[in-house]
Amino acid sequence: MTKQNPIIAALDVPSAEQALKLAEQIAPAVGAFKIGKELFVAAGPDIIRRVRATGASVFLDLKFHDIPNTVAKAVASAVRLDVQMLTVHSSGGSEMMRAAEKSAQDTARALDRPGPLVLGVTVLTSMDGSALAEIGCETKVGDQVERLASLAVKSGLRGLVCSPLEIADLRKILPGHIQLVTPGIRTGAEKADDQKRTLTPLEAIQAGATWLVIGRPIYAAENPRAAAEKILASLF
Ligand code: C5P
Repeated sequence: MTKQNPIIAALDVPSAEQALKLAEQIAPAVGAFKIGKELFVAAGPDIIRRVRATGASVFLDLKFHDIPNTVAKAVASAVRLDVQMLTVHSSGGSEMMRAAEKSAQDTARALDRPGPLVLGVTVLTSMDGSALAEIGCETKVGDQVERLASLAVKSGLRGLVCSPLEIADLRKILPGHIQLVTPGIRTGAEKADDQKRTLTPLEAIQAGATWLVIGRPIYAAENPRAAAEKILASLF
């Protein structure tokens, strides 16, 4: 295949054994694996080394948000673990994001590795207008997403995480090189769950997503490998 496989399979399982079993099963059909807080806190940094040892790329989704110096050091530690993508909260501000990006590129350069993609998270999709107002942000959710997305790009980040329904609007205001990573992907074949605002894999790519984060439609399928292959086939 000449085109990059845009599927990032979320390893949303509670143990290293389950994660590695799933990773080995679906690796040939996906482009990368996402390791989030549940697995990382349970299994520790070693799970990153073990998933990397399969040859797969790793997206470490720990959504860092702290003072710039602390975030820079956490990013450096992540880069030393050889992750290819990681997340920071854009609401941490421009100084924090610039520190994260600089640390990512400087650490990778020192190790003679390609720099990872540092992704900005804008407004969590669990938050609505009243949740934003509660923390003193009297702005519409969509406006706040655009504001934080623009700030992330001005701060030097080259990618953002966004909901499927934000892709089209963000594509209108962002430079073309910005990579958009989107969860909330559903094929229509799976049982109803807590994702409310979804697009199919093809719809998300057509709207301008670069990467698709897919959890349950793959790992909860009867045959995860077949589910991933079917999603991949739907894209090309
Ligand atoms: O199982 P599902 O496909 O819904 O998993 C989506 C993945 O993306 C999960 O790891 C979830 O934590 C993450 N995510 C999300 N919605 C967001 C941000 C992240 O579903 N707004």
